[in-house]
Parts: sequence; structure tokens; C-alpha cells
Amino acid sequence: MTSIPNSFEAIWRIPEGITYNAYVLTTDEGAILFDTWKHIYAKDFIENLRKIIDPKDINYLVIHHMKQDHSGAVPILLAENRNRAKVLGHKLVKTMLKAFYGIEPKFKAVKDGEELVIGNKKIIFIHTPWLHWPETIMSYVQYESTRILLSGDAFGGFSIPPIIADENDEVVLKYLNFVKKYIVTIVGFYSKFILKNIEKIKSQGINPRIIAPAHGLIFKNKPELIINYYIKLAKGVAEKGKIVVIYSSMYGSVERAINVIVEELEKKGFKPIIYSFTDVNRSDIGEIISDIIDSEIVVIGASAYEGEIFPYMAFLLDIIARKVKSKKKFFVISSYGWGKTVSLKISEKLVQAGHEVVEKIEFHGQPTNRDFEKIKQSINLNIR
Ligand SMILES: Cc1cc2nc3c(=O)[nH]c(=O)nc-3n(C[C@H](O)[C@H](O)[C@H](O)COP(=O)(O)O)c2cc1C
Repeated sequence: MTSIPNSFEAIWRIPEGITYNAYVLTTDEGAILFDTWKHIYAKDFIENLRKIIDPKDINYLVIHHMKQDHSGAVPILLAENRNRAKVLGHKLVKTMLKAFYGIEPKFKAVKDGEELVIGNKKIIFIHTPWLHWPETIMSYVQYESTRILLSGDAFGGFSIPPIIADENDEVVLKYLNFVKKYIVTIVGFYSKFILKNIEKIKSQGINPRIIAPAHGLIFKNKPELIINYYIKLAKGVAEKGKIVVIYSSMYGSVERAINVIVEELEKKGFKPIIYSFTDVNRSDIGEIISDIIDSEIVVIGASAYEGEIFPYMAFLLDIIARKVKSKKKFFVISSYGWGKTVSLKISEKLVQAGHEVVEKIEFHGQPTNRDFEKIKQSINLNIR
């Protein structure tokens, strides 16, 4: 059963969409294709490829990443190509091609730093492990004064920008929010490998004039902009004064306390960003963690539910533990009916994930005036 997807990896809602970028490099000694598209778009891929080149004329297929959104059209491409092309990739690609698609094409594993000179063009293959699978590589293409880094998933983002490259600052600015969501949701778990691999690229003197990722905008005017943006988010650098408030509330107890917190924060000049799980709203997990990654402080409110943390909040906390790898400060409030444990459970999850809990306040049922006072005092102490 196939329907048009509205999510990515069966978890992240992406109403903004996503592009799958494959590239063709022609040389005077043959053509090289870098990656393909997701399998459900395989026929469209071949149709579009034909507008540029006959698939039979492709001599090499470089696979930067085996994730199926890029390798999904490899079987049809090789069939159209009559298996003429040599497939190049990390050594793991060979067994993955067999496992994912049951195919065993002509394959050559490329080593880290290996060069391929073809006609008037040179390609250096760079291993960039865990950015964001073990077999991920990049290709650095050089000819005349051109230096292009085909970076795979790295330096990519969600959405379907109205232009192909970064020629318009307004488009770039809007796009960066979708890049942020992409970094956190897709490569967030591997944040330290973003930094490690960028270091590696730089230390090898790789200095691209163009960055061409496998999703989203190509950066040819300001390649350093997207590199620095990735570094900033991998480090979780906070926007000054950014506070995110996330709460769940079944019957309004937690919500009452949250309203007081928001009021107090606004009095102090903050503009908290609010997300909730209630009978009238269910915020998007991807949006929430995109806002957490560059926040200064996060307020979490949830109630006890069958001896545990309210389920959506428990799920969110698991996602935060996996994806938000930079240390964040959390202010926790909770409500219970008969067993005072939920605040502790929330704090434990956060602390185990490397975060700091600056406060945890728990109240029985609805918050009383005394609870409100306690909350206000703590905000004044902990959030300045
Ligand atoms: C489905 C459900 C399960 C609950 N489970 C627990 C529980 O395991 N332990 C507890 O102390 N309170 C439990 N409660 C009580 C709530 O935690 C309590 O009423 C709280 O004030 C609700 O806050 P909220 O309306 O903001 O969600 C439960 C309530 C509901 C509706």
C-alpha cells in the first residue's frame, strides 16, 4: 500500500516536505552519478535523469549513504544502466546492497582519502563515519577553480525551497529553521560526529566553494554559513533568553501552574515558546526538540499516569535523551493524585541523559496558592 508520505522515517511530521538530491558529473571520459532517490520516486528519478543523460551512459555510481531515501532507486537505475556502471562506496555498501535490495552489482570499496581521476576531473572520497550511518562518505570534486563537496545527508535540511541554491538571503533564513529541525531529528543522536567530521574535513585542507548536500539547498555563495550553522547546533549553542515551555495536562492541574509560570516569565521580559499535550492540542515532537536545541532553559510540566510519567511526555523525554546531546537546563513541575513520584522520574531521565534539573516542584492535585508562591519564588531564583 503506497500513499503520499507526510512524515519522515515514520516519526517526524514534515508538512514542509523534503528534497532528495542526486547529482550527475560529466567528464570527457564518462559520467558519474552520485546517489539516487527514495524508492517510491524511482520512476520519476529515471524520467528526470533521462532529461540530462541516458542511464546507460553512466560509468560510475557513487553511493554516499545507504539509507533508503537515497539508495532506493539504485536497483532500477542499475537495471536501466544494464549494470554497466561500477558502484563506488564504503566497503559496508556491498553487503547492504545485497541485504536491502538483493543486488550484487560491480562494486569497488573506496578507501578514506582515495582519489579517482576521471577525464579532466578529480574526486577525493572522504569517510565521514556516523554522519549519520557507519558507511557514510563524502565526495570532494575538483576541476579548474571549482571545488564541490558532495556531502550526503550532512549540511542538508528539510523543506522544498523555491530555489536550488543559496542566492536569496530571505529564502536561506527561512530554510535554516528546517535545517535545524533536520539536524536535531535526523543527525542529533550523532552530534559529536558532526563536529568530529567537520574537524576532519578542515584538517585535510578541504575547502569547498560549493556544498551540495543530499537534501535541501545547495550552498554556493556562502558554504561556510551552513558549516557554521551545523557546528552551532551540534554544540547546542543557546539563543540568549530563549525559554521553551512544554506541558501535558489531562484535567487542567498542570496547566494552571504552567499559566502562572508563563505569566511570571513574561513579567520578566521573556517570550516563552509553549508546547502542549492536552485534549485540545498535541504539539509536534520534531518542532519541540528543534526549539529545545538552542534554548537556554526548558520548563517541563506533567502529571502522574498509571504510576508513570504521562505517556506523551515520557516519549518526549526519551526523544530528548536521544537527540539533544548538549547539556540543557530544565525546570520541572508535576502533579499527582496519590503517589508522589513523577517529578523524580522526570528528573532522573533528564539527569541520566546529561542535562541539569535546576528545580522540581510537585503538587497534590490542583496547585494551591502556596504552590503558586513556591513556583514564583523559584522562577525568580533560577531564571534570570
Ligand atoms: C488516567 C489517569 C491515570 C492517573 N494515574 C495516576 C498515578 O498513577 N498516580 C497518581 O498519583 N495520580 C494519577 N492520576 C491522577 C493525576 O495525576 C492527577 O489528577 C493530576 O492532578 C492530573 O493533572 P493534569 O490534570 O494536569 O493532568 C491519574 C489520572 C488519570 C486521569
